[in-house]
Amino acid sequence: MSQMDRVDNSVEPKSVATGFDLNRVREDFPVLCQRPHGRRLAFLDSAASAQKPRSVIDAVLHCYEAEYANVHRGVYWLSERVTEAFDGAREKVRSFVNAPKASEIVFVRGATEGINLVASSYGGAFLDAGDEIIVSHMEHHSNIVPWQFLRDQRGIVLKVAPINDDGELILDKFEAMLGSRTKLVAITHVANALGTILPVKDICQMARSRGIRVLIDGCQAVPHASVDIQDLGCDFYVFSGHKLYGPSGVGVLYAREELLELMPPYQGGGDMIESVTFDKTDYAAPPYKFEAGTPHIAGVIGLGAAIDYVRSVGLDEISAHESDVLGYGIRHLAGIDGLRLIGEARERAGVISFVLDNVHAHDVGTILDQEGVAVRTGHHCAQPVMDRFGVASTVRASIGMYNGRDDIDALATGLNRVKEIFG
Ligand code: ALA
Repeated sequence: MSQMDRVDNSVEPKSVATGFDLNRVREDFPVLCQRPHGRRLAFLDSAASAQKPRSVIDAVLHCYEAEYANVHRGVYWLSERVTEAFDGAREKVRSFVNAPKASEIVFVRGATEGINLVASSYGGAFLDAGDEIIVSHMEHHSNIVPWQFLRDQRGIVLKVAPINDDGELILDKFEAMLGSRTKLVAITHVANALGTILPVKDICQMARSRGIRVLIDGCQAVPHASVDIQDLGCDFYVFSGHKLYGPSGVGVLYAREELLELMPPYQGGGDMIESVTFDKTDYAAPPYKFEAGTPHIAGVIGLGAAIDYVRSVGLDEISAHESDVLGYGIRHLAGIDGLRLIGEARERAGVISFVLDNVHAHDVGTILDQEGVAVRTGHHCAQPVMDRFGVASTVRASIGMYNGRDDIDALATGLNRVKEIFG
């Protein structure tokens, strides 16, 4: 991710990025017309799941109305058309993250399944008792629990790289942890509970120069800035469609071709085989080897449409616009009495997490809802990082391309209402 993601914390707000038309973007998202409790909807929960533009909704509808059949199985017109659309989406994903080959893109249910696939297949085949996996202290549970399965089943050692009080990875301590038993670093690109952007390119260089594999959880990164997998130099990269303005239930695992060739299948079933007898099965080549069963056909096509949409708005434009809204939000909220920001990394994207003195996060969220402001409250599936900051939960406002400074203003007004109610 680029320097554009350095949040502007200066007092004077910078002007909104040129070339980005917020009103026009908002018109593309039908759900934003909703008026919860009679208020304008300020949807500040895109880190949990982003809203869908009309073109994604239309692509899914079109698939079911006009082009639906199973893929890779039929010789008839409809099946060939849907297969073409499905395979076309794989190429869109490849190009979106600049992977070398479309065959390195595996469709999964979401980032969670992508990480579980790597843990089960790569971990099961290539990691032994005593081998070490390093995660950071700010991982989502989906990048902790699958490695704990491996630890419990195979005696792998799970190590945690520390973070500082601003919520940044302590890079020299991380590097010092890389040893002869370290086999894999599994780390987030952008932390979902804090918004910290991790220096994943440096992490990849440090790890790969020592022969250590790297998996990056890119869920919270791909909606905010362009990602170039070849430039990062990672071995595995996962993300979910639903956070990228696409359908839920579909996601992506990128893995280097040579790894996919060596890794055993994750699940057995139709479409992942070359031939089957009761004695023996020959597997299909990647990515099909890892895509057993009928896939989420309309979801994959919808994900392709989401990528088209994001690219048509422009990732640099989205990045600059969101950075403006984020900087404005941080400045605004930091001035509220009794509000403590959780995570103040210099490089961040998309997220403002905070607690309010003497008010439970769920109460804050409930009152904000009455004001038309949708935020997530709780531990954000990242309990270890909550523990690190000594809180059980936070309020998290997260930003998508359709948010503007007016949403932050609505949030601030809502927080004043919370303070009135709680005295
Ligand atoms: N992982 C999602 C979040 O951060 C659900 O809210």
